[in-house]
Amino acid sequence: MPRYVMESAPAAVTVISGKRYLYFGGTGYYTLQNHPSLLQAATAALARYGMHPATSRGGFGTTPLYVAVEAAYARFFGAEDAAYIASGYLCNLAGLQALTSAARFGAIFVDRGSHYSMTDLLPALGLPVVPFAYRDPENLRRSLRAHLRAGQRALVVSDGIFPLMGHLAPVPAYLEVAAAYDAVLWLDDSHGVGVLGERGRGTCEHYGLASERLLFGGTLSKAFGAYGGVIPGRKDFVRAVRAGHVMNGATSPTSPAAAAALAGVELLAAHPEWRIQLWNNARMLKSGLRRLGLPVEDSPVPIAAWALESAQRMDGVQRALMARGICIQRARYVGAGPAGVLRVVVFSTHTAEQIGRLLEELQRVL
Ligand SMILES: Cc1ncc(COP(=O)(O)O)c(C=O)c1O
Repeated sequence: MPRYVMESAPAAVTVISGKRYLYFGGTGYYTLQNHPSLLQAATAALARYGMHPATSRGGFGTTPLYVAVEAAYARFFGAEDAAYIASGYLCNLAGLQALTSAARFGAIFVDRGSHYSMTDLLPALGLPVVPFAYRDPENLRRSLRAHLRAGQRALVVSDGIFPLMGHLAPVPAYLEVAAAYDAVLWLDDSHGVGVLGERGRGTCEHYGLASERLLFGGTLSKAFGAYGGVIPGRKDFVRAVRAGHVMNGATSPTSPAAAAALAGVELLAAHPEWRIQLWNNARMLKSGLRRLGLPVEDSPVPIAAWALESAQRMDGVQRALMARGICIQRARYVGAGPAGVLRVVVFSTHTAEQIGRLLEELQRVL
């Protein structure tokens, strides 16, 4: 596959290898990465603090910026507190270390489709790891029954939205099974936070779920247009996250990133209409793809992906679209077979005409 070089910020129109494309890739769901308020905040923080970690355990503590980021995300999620983590990738490690340090679990049950940042860390927790079938609560129930000994508690982990295909996890069913076994359910909600739910709180809010046994973390590098990860939750849980290895052992995001994270959450809190626009765009895209005969789910998740019969055919479709000035992803990632998939991401800032044009051109080249 040719190597494309992105030469502008991700936006509905993005410069790639010297040419402007109608762009349907990446994860900048509101294209905040290039929003003037975010750029201004990051630039001001850079001028004030330099390229310095926003908080430094080895130095003289934290910055007002870091404190403000944590308070703003706690407010956004309606949580008692929130921890601002070095990266989205490290959220699962930080969250699960805090959970396993506070309570004893007999085993960890992981949805097989979960992101690398989940599956790679599980052996480090020192508990038996039992994978269960993708988005299959009955298989989870059978696994719990088969692997838990009397008196043992389980930790069940999954992505909230699986990143490649944009599928939602069946969180209500997972929670029901978890409750029957007094288990705790942890979600990597990197693609749900800022995107789903009435207030943008993510997959749990989308499903209307709140429970002491349901916790999550997610990245700030997608919907929020910034960098780092966040874990909202109860005070005691967030305190345990802060006391853990990740927050003490990894450099925090830098001050410009923290300033961007603050601007990003303030923008999303102030503009719920962007979320509605994003969901409408997702529905328009997905219903259009289904009309073309492509098997994509109906949901407000702004990601659609599908496989065609061969890698060559998918390469050909992507190249044909590039030749027509449209960029979609040809992705090989967790959740795809060896041939990979074609993947389209829609932003709140795409117009109906731009989505319509993608669908027309796809119809021509499929
Ligand atoms: C499900 C999921 N979790 C975690 C991450 C990692 O987040 P970050 O890029 O902020 O490290 C990603 C990023 O691509 C992701 O898709």
